[in-house]
Amino acid sequence: MKRLFYLLFAGIFAGILLFGSCEKVVYPPVVIEPPDTAVSYSLDIQPIWNDKCVNCHGGSRDPDLRQENSYDALTNGGYINTSEPEESELMKKLYGSHDSRALEAEKQLILLWIEEGAKNN
Ligand code: HEC
Repeated sequence: MKRLFYLLFAGIFAGILLFGSCEKVVYPPVVIEPPDTAVSYSLDIQPIWNDKCVNCHGGSRDPDLRQENSYDALTNGGYINTSEPEESELMKKLYGSHDSRALEAEKQLILLWIEEGAKNN
């Protein structure tokens, strides 16, 4: 009889442990939104124009690469080809007669910006 009592007791105890440990702890999922693009036109690309290009392309020569005009000048001026980024007039220029005007890393960034859809972001 005593043994049965112990068994019962142990059973209840195990049950409490078992069900107790089944308590659901819900951690909210950590959602990290990936940025839709890696390159920002205003933060990454325009500074290159400011630094390397506007002294010549400051309004009197196409494309006008001053901050307020550069995006329109490039996209409407036909310098950008998002379906074949490397064939963009801009890239051909930067790897052609303007080869020394920008660093390789800058050209890669510009290319990536075009590959990402040449967004005005
Ligand atoms: C020292 C002056 C100078 C600087 C700096 C300069 N350019 Fe130019 N760029 C010119 C001249 C002059 C032309 C026109 C002759 C030619 O096509 O090479 C030109 C032409 C271009 C063209 C072709 C325009 C067309 O309609 O055919 C593009 C695109 C261009 N530049 C982009 C740039 C970019 C981007 C930078 C900065 C990385 C830059 N340029 C820096 C002088 C400059």
